[in-house]
Amino acid sequence: MTVTEHATVTNIRPPASPVQIVPSVLPADYSKLGEEVAALEAAGVDKIQWDVMDGVFVPNLTFGPDVIKACRPHATVPFEAHLMVVNPDQMMLQYLDAGCELLIVHAETTPHLHKTLSTIREAGGKSGVALNPHTSLDVVRHVLDLVDMVLVMTVNPGFGGQKYIATMEPKIREAAKMIEESGFPIDLEVDGGISSDTIAGAAAAGARVLVAGSALYKHQGGLTDAVTELRRLAEEAMAA
Ligand code: DX5
Repeated sequence: MTVTEHATVTNIRPPASPVQIVPSVLPADYSKLGEEVAALEAAGVDKIQWDVMDGVFVPNLTFGPDVIKACRPHATVPFEAHLMVVNPDQMMLQYLDAGCELLIVHAETTPHLHKTLSTIREAGGKSGVALNPHTSLDVVRHVLDLVDMVLVMTVNPGFGGQKYIATMEPKIREAAKMIEESGFPIDLEVDGGISSDTIAGAAAAGARVLVAGSALYKHQGGLTDAVTELRRLAEEAMAA
């Protein structure tokens, strides 16, 4: 029985895993979000990602800071805000105030990325940079001292349930190499189409923080089984 299987049988969280399984709240039941985040924590997730969308940068509209603030008391795991919004500087600090410890801005949405990241750090937050599939890693190469996480998108942002773009795996490998060579303690996150069929490729390429929405909520065994299975598959891919 593997450690993770043991954790499942006894319903305890496995000892620190080398990978983080992070749910996107996008597919959750919005009529009871407080209960939904509590259920995600009970299922063994490492933190929770809020996909914040403004209807301009992406053709979808989702969560304001007040929604996240209302859910904050219902879970103890960290929250992170994936800001798929134009002009993130305008509202991003409100997401820190709402209880998110990490703010992820898209490199494509700010002409002054160094200033944006500095502002997040000066406000006491952790900072992340998300890159759309077409965006080169070069956009973060000179600001790695200000970055706590790099997010390589494996879908075009805006909606859950999209197909994993496997041609991003060389980019994930390149990001892992860039981070290692920098010497900075930067997490490498991947988001989009992560499932039991695709997580091994992303983890083998170097991703250590894996965001999943549909794969968790559609899993026939429920959230706990889904989290446990994704974690096991990612760990096995790392060890291979
Ligand atoms: C896209 C979103 C999705 C979501 C995960 O803008 O960021 O990638 O988090 O959705 P799934 O796991 O269903 O692809």
